[in-house]
Amino acid sequence: MKKDPLKINISEFDEKRFGIRTAHAANITQENLGEVMDFCKANQVVFLVARCVTSEILAVHSMQRNGFLLMDTIMRFSVDVVNMYEAPGVDILPVRPVQPGEEDAVRALARETFRGYRGHYHEDVRLDPEKCDGIYASLAYEACVNNEETSIVHVCKIDGEIVGFDIQKTPSPGIGKGVLTAIAPSAQKRGVGLSFVQPKKDWFRSKGVTVTFSGINITNIPSQKLLIVQNYLPYDSIYTFHKWFD
Ligand SMILES: CC(C)(COP(=O)(O)OP(=O)(O)OC[C@H]1O[C@@H](n2cnc3c(N)ncnc32)[C@H](O)[C@@H]1OP(=O)(O)O)[C@@H](O)C(=O)NCCC(=O)NCCS
Repeated sequence: MKKDPLKINISEFDEKRFGIRTAHAANITQENLGEVMDFCKANQVVFLVARCVTSEILAVHSMQRNGFLLMDTIMRFSVDVVNMYEAPGVDILPVRPVQPGEEDAVRALARETFRGYRGHYHEDVRLDPEKCDGIYASLAYEACVNNEETSIVHVCKIDGEIVGFDIQKTPSPGIGKGVLTAIAPSAQKRGVGLSFVQPKKDWFRSKGVTVTFSGINITNIPSQKLLIVQNYLPYDSIYTFHKWFD
């Protein structure tokens, strides 16, 4: 199987939040790990978020020998848009694109829903949990205000309150990617999550997206079930390691 090329960059988003020089690396292999270490040294990186596919066992062993700590495992799912779940047309709650003025409500909902969420940031005892909670709130807020052609924020309102949002994007032509989904704890398990499927599908079609991907923490069973109900299938899996250089 063809390997995706190494991606490595300084993360201004994380640096601003944690006040620590941070880099992100993806598609790490045994062969390119030296390049990752050189990049971190040359750029005085203190904190590295390092990802590799789970089949790269030699890279995993090298990282472990070098003090990289495992933080989470991401299961990636994919589905051809044409095969996605067809909403039955009943019991579907009203969903529409976010409107100007709703950004703060979306941010507050993200903060509430992702408080203490066990993502890779929260799993790292060196990172302030309050600041970790804020990551998802910032991502959701920025998706609302940036209002890019290549992404969409859908919201679901019940009794005038936003109870859920779903953010999707198309990072390259024909390809879709799930960014963030959140249903208020008080509104979960009532079908709100499924109500986003048809609008998402319609948006993907309007953008010419034919296949879409979503990555979920392996411990997040409700989210994986929600993807499986929509006909997503397993695609691959990814380890997230953190390496501290100080
Ligand atoms: C995951 C999440 C989006 C699901 O939304 P939801 O509105 O509760 O889901 P729905 O009511 O539409 O349920 C859809 C399916 O998901 C499954 N599901 C939802 N919540 C579940 C739970 N707590 N446990 C087990 N299965 C669950 C069910 O199988 C359901 O299928 P069914 O109708 O056959 O029973 C919601 O729980 C959430 O926001 N969680 C916190 C944030 C998060 O983890 N986001 C995803 C990462 S980006």
